[in-house]
Amino acid sequence: MSLKYALAIAILLLRVADVAAGQDERQWIVFGHDSASDLAAALADSATLTRNQIRDFRLLSPVDDRAIARYFPELEKPLHRAFHNKGRCGGYTLHRSLAAAMIEAGNPFYSEAYLNRSGVSPAAIDQQAHVAPALALVDAGRIIDTIEWLQGMGTRYYRSNAGRNASVGLQARWEGYGSGRSDFSVTRFEHPWEQDSVIASIEGTVIPNEIVLIGGHLDSINASNQSDAPGADDNASGIAVVSEVLRVMLASDFRPRRTLQFMAYAAEEVGLRGSRAIAREYDLAGKNVVGAMQLDMTGFSGSPRDLYFVTDYVSTDLTNFLKRLIGEYNGPGSHEITFGDTACGYACSDHAAWTEVGVPAVHPFETRAGEHNAALHTANDRLGRIDTTGQKQALFAKLGIEFMMEVSKADQAH
Ligand code: BES
Ligand code: ZN
Repeated sequence: MSLKYALAIAILLLRVADVAAGQDERQWIVFGHDSASDLAAALADSATLTRNQIRDFRLLSPVDDRAIARYFPELEKPLHRAFHNKGRCGGYTLHRSLAAAMIEAGNPFYSEAYLNRSGVSPAAIDQQAHVAPALALVDAGRIIDTIEWLQGMGTRYYRSNAGRNASVGLQARWEGYGSGRSDFSVTRFEHPWEQDSVIASIEGTVIPNEIVLIGGHLDSINASNQSDAPGADDNASGIAVVSEVLRVMLASDFRPRRTLQFMAYAAEEVGLRGSRAIAREYDLAGKNVVGAMQLDMTGFSGSPRDLYFVTDYVSTDLTNFLKRLIGEYNGPGSHEITFGDTACGYACSDHAAWTEVGVPAVHPFETRAGEHNAALHTANDRLGRIDTTGQKQALFAKLGIEFMMEVSKADQAH
């Protein structure tokens, strides 16, 4: 019998015992195992806790880096102190039932091992013959054209006709990049609201069931006037970069061993709804996405470096792989990229939808979080507020091309 089953049975018995004892009101706490020693010290110091309470606190550890324990109100102060010492604000969650605590403990956000699950990274960097000429094809002017086209729609709100037209229009635009290629298709992924997500695929020649994907959200929002949401930076700038990566992959006649997908998600601004629907469907269907890059806000320069890698709700391994790619392809010269790290502090964009289903995701962002384009979600989020030459956005396109080519790998037979 595996440890997993033994645990499941132990938990079931505990739960039955709970119900039998009529103790449904009790709460459960989920916390990181790395905090266990700080917690033990804080609890031992506490004058308000009984020995039984301290013993009960270390009840279960269901996954390698999360622990579940009984919770009682007297714990609050010592817990707060222990987590604060570790430099975290929260660091734990409380649940009414053990079942809910178990689900939370299995949340992939918490497990480094889960976040870093990846079949391909760190991978060899060996596609120079394909990447170098492709970088030269990146056209900043086309990126600007796409941003203008998208902001010109007035709004791309997910529950509007304009939002729907954006999906239909983008499908046609993407189809135009690859006319005639039989391994290329563009489909719309329907949702229970007006706007569709748009998905372009270039079928892999050798391992088509492994998918490398790049995406951004197509929708825009303006809380004070739904019909005036140009969303130039947030996120026409990301969709324009995804579009340019797709155009260049096709223009370079790159034939990937793994399948490439390009996604424009609907309804991000209302809670990652489009990307979650896709990620969950892919997960249920057993589709193997080996890496996902999110592009959301690429045009505004408000921090010293060109771009910043978001460090939360992403794969650290895949992020490190991108930093290696920059080392290989973007040193001083016409393709130079400087970078730093930043954190959103919450599930701030669609990369989190992939992280939630265990797909390694990365999110390079325009600035340090907090120094970003302040016009987002207003009628002022227009092209004039971002890099109108497209040079900044072009750096993200180069990184996207490097990622798509180096993770998917070219079919040598072509
Ligand atoms: N692009 C933003 C997220 C963002 C804004 C990141 C500023 C870093 C700095 C995204 O489109 C957005 O607005 N997300 C929502 C969260 C979503 C779950 C509704 C947000 O930040 O409120
Ligand atoms: Zn956004």
